[in-house]
Amino acid sequence: MSANRPAAVVVLAAGEGTRMKSKTPKVLHEIAGRSLVGHVVCAARELEPEQLVVVVGHARDQVEEHLAQHYAGTRTAFQSEQNGTGHAVRMGLEELGGELRGTVIVVCGDTPLLSGDTLTALAATHAADGNAVTVLTADVPDSTGYGRIVRDAATGAVTAIVEHKDATDAQRAIREINSGVFAFDGVLLADALKKVRTDNSQGEEYLTDVLGILREAGHRVGASVAADHREILGINNRVQLAEARRLLNERLLERAMLAGVTVVDPSSVLVDVTVTFGQDVVVHPGTQLLGVTHVAEDAEVGPNTRLKDTVVGAGARVDNTVADSAEIGAAANVGPYAYLRPGTKLGAKGKIGTYVETKNAVIGEGTKVPHLSYVGDATIGDHSNIGAASVFVNYDGEQKHHTTIGSHCRTGSDNMFVAPVTIGDGAYTAAGSVITKDVPPGSLAVARGQQRNIEGWVARKRPGSAAAQAATAATEGVAEGN
Ligand code: UD1
Ligand code: CA
Repeated sequence: MSANRPAAVVVLAAGEGTRMKSKTPKVLHEIAGRSLVGHVVCAARELEPEQLVVVVGHARDQVEEHLAQHYAGTRTAFQSEQNGTGHAVRMGLEELGGELRGTVIVVCGDTPLLSGDTLTALAATHAADGNAVTVLTADVPDSTGYGRIVRDAATGAVTAIVEHKDATDAQRAIREINSGVFAFDGVLLADALKKVRTDNSQGEEYLTDVLGILREAGHRVGASVAADHREILGINNRVQLAEARRLLNERLLERAMLAGVTVVDPSSVLVDVTVTFGQDVVVHPGTQLLGVTHVAEDAEVGPNTRLKDTVVGAGARVDNTVADSAEIGAAANVGPYAYLRPGTKLGAKGKIGTYVETKNAVIGEGTKVPHLSYVGDATIGDHSNIGAASVFVNYDGEQKHHTTIGSHCRTGSDNMFVAPVTIGDGAYTAAGSVITKDVPPGSLAVARGQQRNIEGWVARKRPGSAAAQAATAATEGVAEGN
């Protein structure tokens, strides 16, 4: 439980984000498998606030639906017109019943790198210093677009925040910027918001003006400088979106490496926030691990592999593979060049080899599908071997049907299993068979045309051809015993 548990966190997410130039509202853009607003909500939840409210406006329905789906129970407040960050906070507080005793934390929905730890530190500074407001600031190499922190030359105390658009040239030279994250005294905040005016270049109610208002009223105004300025990166356009993805990715991989994962080339590996690893995993270059993917101990993934919502068992090897919602058993072997679609479950020590596609397929322990095959809507037992170039014919043009193959089966190369069909334990099938009928356990099924050799056909039909000459040489050679 956090020591300085705030009364509320208000997340601002009503803006359109015009600079994204997108049909999708800015806060729903994703990095590392989570929406921008989702990252902020997750960080805010670490503070264990008594209340959490997200202020929505632009594309309200879409944002609310997203929150309900992924962050159940999150309360929202509606800001019908985007009249500025101050106005947005006012709407948030109204939803929570107006004046709140205790600390109110305000965060923008477009700062996805902000960590729960930084928010906790801000709340602690705010409480320890007894401030009316504490703003999280950062010294950045390029302060373009951000609100600038103006400090008293003599005392160094923060006197105001001036928005980029409203700043003088001298103020624009300031490198210390407003992160958009604040801790407020709830009562003083509500009161000061009533006094915020709109006489600025954007004609908006700026939350940042609250700071000057409180200071002029004689209240303590403080600032907490973020240890790492990269954490407060605000996303306004897609260049910043990509930059945030890169920084978050570095953070995630660093955490994994420090926990015992070998990442051969971190710059070519992408991971989502929900990916987890066991110890001594090796991740090869060109690998993307997405969604709720888990790679267990001693497994090796990549190169050039994309796994989404997939579990890789301990010691498994997955090479040049695309998998979605699949389970790969311990010590199993997948790829190179395999495509595992949803519902694929490969047993321990099993194999899905080269140019093999699987879907809704449960493949038993030690069973191998080594080459050039499609396995769809199938259950295969343990220790069976599926011959090269086999197709599980699961679709009749209207419906999908199931194929069941038992344990210890040996199916021939180039088989078609026309579902629904069942092959019993220990059965064999001949190469080139089109299996349309069930095969009892222990039988050999042969389902192909008989071979017929028409002797002398080439000599008769293609006289004088190279083929005919070769045939003649071969038969004479045989006759002469050469
Ligand atoms: C804001 C700050 C700026 C700070 C920067 C940090 C103000 C006036 N400016 O500028 O000092 O350096 O963030 O990234 O506060 N929003 C609403 N309703 C509105 C307007 C905005 O909910 O009416 C939300 C947006 O959805 C967004 C956040 O508030 O999540 C910030 O808005 P944005 O327009 O991005 O502000 P900046 O110009 O970046
Ligand atoms: Ca912004």
